[in-house]
Amino acid sequence: MTLRITKLHPLFAARVEGIDIARGFSDAAFAELRAAFEEHSVIVLPGQALDDDQQIDFSKRFGPLEMMLPHAGNNMNPGHISRMYNAEEDGSIIPPEDRRMIYLTANRIWHTDSSFKEVPSLCSLLHARIVPPEGGETEFASMRAAYDALDDETRALIAGKVAMHHAARTRDMVAPDLVSPERRAKPPVRHAMVRTNPVNARKALYTGGHAGKIEGMNDTEAEALLNDLLDHATQPQFTYAHKWQIGDIVIWDNRAVLHRGRPWNETIHKRILHRTTVAGDGPTV
Ligand code: OGA
Ligand code: MN
Repeated sequence: MTLRITKLHPLFAARVEGIDIARGFSDAAFAELRAAFEEHSVIVLPGQALDDDQQIDFSKRFGPLEMMLPHAGNNMNPGHISRMYNAEEDGSIIPPEDRRMIYLTANRIWHTDSSFKEVPSLCSLLHARIVPPEGGETEFASMRAAYDALDDETRALIAGKVAMHHAARTRDMVAPDLVSPERRAKPPVRHAMVRTNPVNARKALYTGGHAGKIEGMNDTEAEALLNDLLDHATQPQFTYAHKWQIGDIVIWDNRAVLHRGRPWNETIHKRILHRTTVAGDGPTV
């Protein structure tokens, strides 16, 4: 055992020490890290000084990376890095009414990254470059704990069910014109409502802000069920809020947790985090 693992919440999330990403580490150490990821769903590695290329190289050990789509949140520059930021390169704070900031507020809605893609993300890695003195946490909800706590009736109701996910659903909650017509025209994708981890067979509820409809259920009923599931899953006992320190990299399992960003005093304090997103290995249905 080369890594030190400390639980951050009784049900999930752990801090892992003993790896300096920039210095490199053995395959054995990575195997331990990967096992910790499968086990705890959210992994915090503190004190990592990384540039984008180092973050990309590290992220690729988990699998092939997703390519970002060009959108207002990344200045229409697609690549492997998605920037969560409220400051320009010159250091000036971007006003909250700027389109890029409005776009990023969609992250405050509980979601799982890329569930609007047919092959959704395995995990995301978010690295803190500049953090505000208070607020701006990223909050996670364990969808395994939420699934385990469902009553038998609800578990039977969602077993084998497929929900429809679309990126426009969360963006439309923020502003009606955030989604380009091309993106809106894309058909929703189908995802299993319950996913099983291939390593440990733990089941997790798979839902979030992009999910709108359920196959074989009328829309009103589906919407009510999805809202109930989200309320259930995001109860305080299933959530962990990560208070960022510069240099933290947090890796979360998009198959097993939902997440959302929390507000901070964004007209005064800067917050810059860079995300890489590892692709999943196939469709969920
Ligand atoms: C993300 C995300 C929330 C935050 O990077 O995918 O949703 O706290 N971020 O910035
Ligand atoms: Mn996200």
